[in-house]
Amino acid sequence: MAVTTGAKTILIVNGPNLAMLGKREPEIYGHETYDDLQTFCRAEAQKRGFLAEIFQSNSEGEIVTRLNKAMQGKYSGVIINPAAYTHYSYAIYDALLMLSCPKIEVHLTNIYKRESFRSNSVTAQACDRQVYGRGLEGYADAMDLIQHITAERAREEAASKRQ
Ligand code: DQA
Repeated sequence: MAVTTGAKTILIVNGPNLAMLGKREPEIYGHETYDDLQTFCRAEAQKRGFLAEIFQSNSEGEIVTRLNKAMQGKYSGVIINPAAYTHYSYAIYDALLMLSCPKIEVHLTNIYKRESFRSNSVTAQACDRQVYGRGLEGYADAMDLIQHITAERAREEAASKRQ
């Protein structure tokens, strides 16, 4: 059994239809399944000393409730692929705004090279960074960004204390 005591936890939230990976438009999303995504995320998290808590829902309300629960401050970062909600969910945008930890939006595909409606992300405006078009690797990139932002914030805090 993996030793996880003391590991910092990151929350990974995946939106509608992502559980269908592997079966869903494989020419666009590839052949890797949602189980593959979860295995990949857990392994990449562990490499960086994180524990990954992974949540998927097809329902906007459930995603909002999960993000609200994350307000207890337990997480070192949140990675979210809001899927189609990206493009119109002000409820998820508002829920993300309430979280102060580093927040990264991830898309498996390049949303800027697909249908025009996908080019607009409402939810990215409440996140620190956005990663797109990197397939599963995008989740690992997001973990690196969480580490980077955390280090940057620590430096800024130390500098402001010195003033
Ligand atoms: C997606 C892109 C969205 O536009 C789409 O609705 C998805 C997946 C992606 O990961 O590329 O469901 O978020």
